[in-house]
Amino acid sequence: MESSHAHRKDEHVSLAQKYYNAAHTVDEFDQVRIIHRSFPEKSIDDISLQTCLNKNLILDTPFYIEAMTGGSDKTEQLNRQLAFLAAKHHLAMASGSQSIALNDANAISSFKIIREENPTGIIFANLSAETSVTRANQAIEMLAANALELHVNVAQELTMPEGSRTFRWLNNIEKLVNQLTVPIIVKEVGFGMDKQTLQQLVDVGVKYVNVSGRGGTNFAQIENRRNHDNQFDDLKSWGQTTPESLLEAQQFNQKLTIFASGGISSPVDVIKSGILGANAVGVAGYFLHVLMTDGIDALDTVLSNWETEVQRLLLLCGVNKFQELPSVPYVLSAELNNYTKQRGLK
Ligand code: FNR
Repeated sequence: MESSHAHRKDEHVSLAQKYYNAAHTVDEFDQVRIIHRSFPEKSIDDISLQTCLNKNLILDTPFYIEAMTGGSDKTEQLNRQLAFLAAKHHLAMASGSQSIALNDANAISSFKIIREENPTGIIFANLSAETSVTRANQAIEMLAANALELHVNVAQELTMPEGSRTFRWLNNIEKLVNQLTVPIIVKEVGFGMDKQTLQQLVDVGVKYVNVSGRGGTNFAQIENRRNHDNQFDDLKSWGQTTPESLLEAQQFNQKLTIFASGGISSPVDVIKSGILGANAVGVAGYFLHVLMTDGIDALDTVLSNWETEVQRLLLLCGVNKFQELPSVPYVLSAELNNYTKQRGLK
């Protein structure tokens, strides 16, 4: 008999899938237009997909499988399939939150499978920003992880009747950054970040941030569906979109390595994220949707296509590698331009 915590993990996955289409009615990346130029003066063989986050963290592909799940029998099966494909396509992969496995030994196998299926790949462990150093080390060890994502999810917790109501995280994040030996990536869960948040992270010594913006999986909606008696509907459109968050982050490009996620559902979204300053791009809901709707072979094909298309798009943009994308000119929609002006971003 699985715990109620394990049941919640199953519900997150099934509700993310159920509301996938409703959550993706608008592509926020349509508000960014890449300027086409006719003379790249290079060939496809000049283009590398590798992206270097630090000397020990080099991704073979700029997009990766973002944090989702683990903790139950069903989610173990999903993690097995995702990790198998991560290994096959040389994609980094983030685990879902491992706190359930630190509290219940029965849940450990559903996370360990991520490393078993992908012995040499890049894997990110995942815990809440309130975790202790000891638990963080246990989570890293469980996966022989190359980095640790610390998720910050105030809006999600507040939509959950059983969620936290106290959020004092910055001192703890500082302690974790100082005491852990792997890179720490502080990560939102689909509500985005602004420049003040990023400055607060810089001030406590954080070097890696995933802005995870609005525009894809919507945890306010998912938690509302789990708790019919306790809805917090106002949060459905809360937060900064991923393009807005990346624009907020541009002034930190010397101090922070920025990851994008939130609503990434095409190779062009990956490229636009790079143009706005992301060093790597995580995809959660879209890959889960393909896997659950059409199966592992379909996701396998999607991943192959994305690799080919991202390489072609880099050529089309006239750059040799992903991290050269910020040199590519772009135009913002009137709405997004208005956002940058009001926020004093340019
Ligand atoms: C998530 N996400 C997430 N994030 C995290 O840091 N820890 C977690 O345990 C989870 N769990 C989780 C479950 C499911 C089913 C989904 C779809 C997502 C959030 C995820 O990593 C990402 O930040 C957001 O989903 C936005 O990206 P997408 O889904 O729009 O690509």
